[in-house]
Amino acid sequence: MLRIKTLRGRTTLFVLVIMLLSGILTTLLGVFLNWLNLLTYPTIWAPIIVLSVSSLLGTLLAHFLANFILKPIKDIARATKEVAKGNFTVQVDDAKTIGEIEMLIKDFNKMVRELASIEMFRSDFISNFSHEFKTPIVSIQGFAKQLQKENISDEKKKKYIEIIAQESENLANLSTNILYLTKLESQNIVTDKTSFSLDEQIRHSVILLEKTWTRKNLQIILDLDPITYHGNKDITEQLWTNLLSNAVNASKENGKIEITAKEKENEIIVSIKDYGVGMTSDVLSRIFDKFYQGDTSRTSSGNGLGLPMVKRIVELCNGKIHVQSEPDRGTTFSITFPKSMG
Ligand SMILES: Nc1ncnc2c1ncn2[C@@H]1O[C@H](COP(=O)(O)OP(=O)(O)OP(=O)(O)O)[C@@H](O)[C@H]1O
Ligand SMILES: [Mg+2]
Repeated sequence: MLRIKTLRGRTTLFVLVIMLLSGILTTLLGVFLNWLNLLTYPTIWAPIIVLSVSSLLGTLLAHFLANFILKPIKDIARATKEVAKGNFTVQVDDAKTIGEIEMLIKDFNKMVRELASIEMFRSDFISNFSHEFKTPIVSIQGFAKQLQKENISDEKKKKYIEIIAQESENLANLSTNILYLTKLESQNIVTDKTSFSLDEQIRHSVILLEKTWTRKNLQIILDLDPITYHGNKDITEQLWTNLLSNAVNASKENGKIEITAKEKENEIIVSIKDYGVGMTSDVLSRIFDKFYQGDTSRTSSGNGLGLPMVKRIVELCNGKIHVQSEPDRGTTFSITFPKSMG
């Protein structure tokens, strides 16, 4: 709004300057004709010459004005129509523009580039989303068809039913996680805040996942300060369960996972360290992308939504996340956030 107002102010000034220049030029022309004695001896030619030269000057100035101010605006209008049609490749040339018009074009181009990246992200998201949904559905369909066949052994029947049950659970988890992540992304403030013991919550998450880490015979070492935190209990619990389940997935049999929680001044630092498969820098650079799953988790059933969720929750807590990882050596996720949720 402000920019449009400023632009209009400048345009008026520009028109006034051009009118002033026209006036000066016409006066100079009069003086020149006077000098040639054309005006002291009034002839029919004097007003005709003054009028013609003034109109020529006026036309030239109007043309200049139209080119200088209106052409870029017409270009923007044309480009806007293209964007409205869904063409996000369009860009307006700002080479011959100055001041606010140049700024307007630069901002317009930036906006279109942003829209293009959002569009690309949206279509990537949809194709990943469809893929994640389609895979278990196709598998369920296939095994259900097998079960319809006659002469199928009891052993096979049991196996196929188990696969169908597992794939259905995956689908249910996928829907829950997508809904949860969408909810987190659409909210900007945290509601339902209470004061609770964070160390207690971490211990509770460890117990929740007990089945998974005992299966691998992992040792979980806890070093937790007593910490009272003011925030949303449900969303912080997601942090520990997601990070711990990743650490368990990455760990080798008989390995160990260390969890520490420290309070420093007004900050809380929680770190989860595993000695598992670790990550290459390539994997590391993509772990917060939705649906991304690195090589190591190919065998595990997940959807690659855990870490994007963790990232969003940390943002909502006004915190920071730091990851340090080395292939075959392990990974440490550290989360730092203020004592009270923003
Ligand atoms: N502690 C870790 N050690 C090694 N790799 C990890 C670790 N944590 C995450 N990763 C890598 O990051 C990827 C993304 O993690 P994320 O939690 O988002 O998805 P996921 O665990 O595969 O599936 P989901 O969390 O949806 O069940 C994992 O597939 C894995 O490759
Ligand atoms: Mg995960």
